[in-house]
Amino acid sequence: MTPAEAKNKIAALRAEVARHAELYYRRATPEIPDQDYDRLERELADLEKEFPEFAVKESPTVRVGDDRLDGFSTYRHRQRMQSLDNTYSEAELREFHQRLVKLFARDELAYVIEPKIDGLAVSVTYEKGKLTRAVTRGNGEEGDDVTANVMTIRTLPHELTAGGTYPVPDLIEIRGEIYLTLAEFQRINLAREEAGEALYANPRNLAAGTLKQLDSREVAQRKLEIVLYGVGFCEPPAADTQNHYHELVKQWNLPTLERYWKAVGIDEVWAAVQELDRLRHAFAYATDGAVVKLDDFRLQREAGSTSKAPRWAIAYKFPAERAETRINAISVQVGRTGVLTPVAELEPVLLAGTTVARATLHNQDEIARKDIRIGDYVLVEKAGEIIPAVIEVNLKRRAPECVAYKLPAQCPVCGTPTIQLEEEVATRCPNVNCPAQVRRRLGHFVAKACLDIDGIGSAMIDELVDKGWVKELPDLYKLRRDDLLTLGKSVEKSTDNLLAAIEASKGRELWRLIHGLGIPHVGVAAAKDLATHFREIEKLAAAKMEDFIATKQVVIAGIGETMARAIVGYFNEPRNRAMVTALLELGVKPQAPTAKVTSSSVFVGKTFVLTGTLPTMTREEAGEKVEAAGGKVSGSVSKKTSYVLAGAEAGSKLEKAQQLGVPVIDEAEFVRLLAAGNENSVS
Ligand code: IVH
Repeated sequence: MTPAEAKNKIAALRAEVARHAELYYRRATPEIPDQDYDRLERELADLEKEFPEFAVKESPTVRVGDDRLDGFSTYRHRQRMQSLDNTYSEAELREFHQRLVKLFARDELAYVIEPKIDGLAVSVTYEKGKLTRAVTRGNGEEGDDVTANVMTIRTLPHELTAGGTYPVPDLIEIRGEIYLTLAEFQRINLAREEAGEALYANPRNLAAGTLKQLDSREVAQRKLEIVLYGVGFCEPPAADTQNHYHELVKQWNLPTLERYWKAVGIDEVWAAVQELDRLRHAFAYATDGAVVKLDDFRLQREAGSTSKAPRWAIAYKFPAERAETRINAISVQVGRTGVLTPVAELEPVLLAGTTVARATLHNQDEIARKDIRIGDYVLVEKAGEIIPAVIEVNLKRRAPECVAYKLPAQCPVCGTPTIQLEEEVATRCPNVNCPAQVRRRLGHFVAKACLDIDGIGSAMIDELVDKGWVKELPDLYKLRRDDLLTLGKSVEKSTDNLLAAIEASKGRELWRLIHGLGIPHVGVAAAKDLATHFREIEKLAAAKMEDFIATKQVVIAGIGETMARAIVGYFNEPRNRAMVTALLELGVKPQAPTAKVTSSSVFVGKTFVLTGTLPTMTREEAGEKVEAAGGKVSGSVSKKTSYVLAGAEAGSKLEKAQQLGVPVIDEAEFVRLLAAGNENSVS
């Protein structure tokens, strides 16, 4: 390669790496598998080594990606959060050990081998044993303050348990990984599929997207988990080896790794890595490798770090499981809002322990980008991913008669010509009466998180739509007992149960109806906010943009501009307004929230006094939360005060509370009370 070529290649690679880092760290929607990203990074690093004259002297932080987003306040780590060098090769793992052998002039180095959990890094601070802060890695120097969201994690204690032999340090920044179990990932995706919403490709993206939600109530509904695997900063120092640290973590009652290994010398390390690979598929979380760490903290310090990563640790990544198979056909699914999703029907192939026969191809752009054609042999991957992805086409095996694939110009279900809106990648069937859309809409409407009508499964929906009895949602309330009794398996009892369930759904909470309408972007939390604010469906239907957004200011917490546009757009459509009117005329009578309470009424009848500086919110914000949950805020402490919420440098009010025996809580406890209330609330 000539220097001129190298210069161009380096610039191109750097742009490419930066684009994928943005998609991965900030947006949690990567376009390429981790392995391909690692390869790009490696290629760039190698070229920069060969042509150092073109290497840009970036600040080290550029190298670790940056996950910070607008809407969060940033917080500076006391100790920088680094990333890890990684490798897919045993030889390179051995070289890592050899470098350390040379450095310390001895062979018998002790290591700890841990699973590499596929989640996102977080730093959790405990001050005098109390959980005070949680921050994402950000750019390594400073990250997003996600304390309120992390406090919704049930397994993370808000106070460390002091063990006799292991006193709790004054201040400790503990590093760990936030993740979703595979089971929780599947639960959420299944619910999204039922609702015709886009699926998340893997638990890591879903965990990252969840942690970065601005609304902790939304976060509490998805069960995030955490595991702690390292010390960032600790005063006074508590452990002197990684092994010792793991013991401390257990002693303090923090969530720990379910397995880790000790090893001396590289052969034992390699044996442990292989054992981990055998066992990891049974773990509750997705793992993508092994992290090998020098055990002794003193040796760690001596080994030091490069700009990106420590020299005393390395990640050995397990190759993603891939297989080649043929695309026999491409089928097209029509979603609730008419979006056409192409799905590859594959020659079944065994991959990571399961048989894979289908893979989503997302949309026309994605098919064009990878030039995927019917009859092609393609590489299918299932890494931490549950949903298999088509990675690339094996062009060497392409038959000459294969032609480029285009999504149908007509809806495969109702035949209406499809459209593609300018600002969208999705191709849509514009016919709102398309049976496929009606089926999906109905499925969503009756789902648990909407009108919760028991007894209408997908087979029943198909029958209702195929018979032409349900063409739009209000038809559900016009179903006749005699008709239902003619359905093959129907017996009187189940028909009566079904009719009773439909009848009961008329009086459900307003938010359920709002959610059930299937307005794009409006999920459960937003539906609850809208119900609280508008209190009547007619008022919501009549709302204008300025009722949501006033001169760029959000009027209703939790409802931003995109959602506001979607809502206004939805009710601007005469057909949708007519449908809501029809529902009401048929006796649907949604219940407005009882009190003016946003999410829970845990604090009804409770009086709070706020004092001192809270770690993550202002006293005003805390006061708003108290009032939103039905409580009152008072300026002075008396025997009637229910709680004193105290932050740093709280003065006389704290003393008074202690004299009177009024419970004093910190922000962590406060957030826990709120979250606990949300969980129990019927809302
Ligand atoms: S140690 C300086 N241990 O992998 C040491 N990281 O690719 C930094 N990760 O940023 C991390 N499991 O988010 C460590 N057992 C483990 C891990 C782990 C997962 C993540 C972590 C880190 C990334 C580096």
